[in-house]
Amino acid sequence: MDLGLKDKVALVTGAGSQIGFGKAICQTLAKEGCDVVVNDIDLENAQKTADEVKALGRKTMAVKADVTKKAEVDAMVNKVLAEFGRIDILCNVAGGIIHKDNVPIDEQDPAVWEKQLRLNLIGTMNVTQAVIPQMRKQKYGVIVNIGSGSTHQYQMGVGTYAMSKYAIDLFTKQLAFVEGKNDIRVNCVAPGPAPTNFGAILREDTPNLPPEEMEKMRAAMLGTFPLGRMGTATDMANATVLLASDATSYITGQVLHVSGGSVM
Ligand SMILES: NC(=O)c1ccc[n+]([C@@H]2O[C@H](COP(=O)([O-])OP(=O)(O)OC[C@H]3O[C@@H](n4cnc5c(N)ncnc54)[C@H](O)[C@@H]3O)[C@@H](O)[C@H]2O)c1
Repeated sequence: MDLGLKDKVALVTGAGSQIGFGKAICQTLAKEGCDVVVNDIDLENAQKTADEVKALGRKTMAVKADVTKKAEVDAMVNKVLAEFGRIDILCNVAGGIIHKDNVPIDEQDPAVWEKQLRLNLIGTMNVTQAVIPQMRKQKYGVIVNIGSGSTHQYQMGVGTYAMSKYAIDLFTKQLAFVEGKNDIRVNCVAPGPAPTNFGAILREDTPNLPPEEMEKMRAAMLGTFPLGRMGTATDMANATVLLASDATSYITGQVLHVSGGSVM
């Protein structure tokens, strides 16, 4: 199957984490022949990812920008357009969880709600808003947002995080509806749990359990997953790149759960 990705220009946000989804997406896009702009709030790490893209023989650039800051995002997109002339693919990966799980609502800090929604939802909207005019001009564009399986897994107790991601599902559909006439497709990959830097805050207070206990807890969770294993960054990258490709040119406004069947 030809994915039709050769010589496309992609912008991937939040791709600095060296064990995260963003980096795996950049590598997979580069292997399929894309030039890839690597964004992160952490320039040093973004540059490491860009170096890997370069090693795969593609043009690349690392750009530091905080996706929650409109002025930084606009400057980033202008820089990409000055250097690459177009943006065919946008993968909105930057995000994360910034609150503890299972905290009763009356013990939560409203300032954290705002920060969480700003990071995941407003960050995704900021970058999308900056890129859409160029995609309209090109009469071509593909956007893949990263959502989360937590939107359907209430036992995780990550309320505000899950709400921010559910809002991304809806943003995906609304944008797909409006921009379809401009030949812009918008989809969302909703990952299940995967071992990246993402859950650090949730692990902070985890009691130091003996390895057998940890293994038991892990096995209990995975026992509820039809495919019986955690996801990997490669699993998420493959699904994201497939949705970014012309092989899925008739798919828009969809949320694809990549979670071993843990969400159906
Ligand atoms: N790992 C999981 O279990 C899981 C599950 C569901 C969804 N997700 C989502 O996947 C996405 C990628 O997370 P990951 O698992 O690769 O985690 P990660 O922590 O390894 O990577 C996230 C990256 O985003 C960057 N980032 C954070 N804030 C930013 C900002 N304001 N501007 C620009 N970059 C910023 C970080 O520096 C980091 O490099 C996130 O949106 C996350 O919510 C992760």
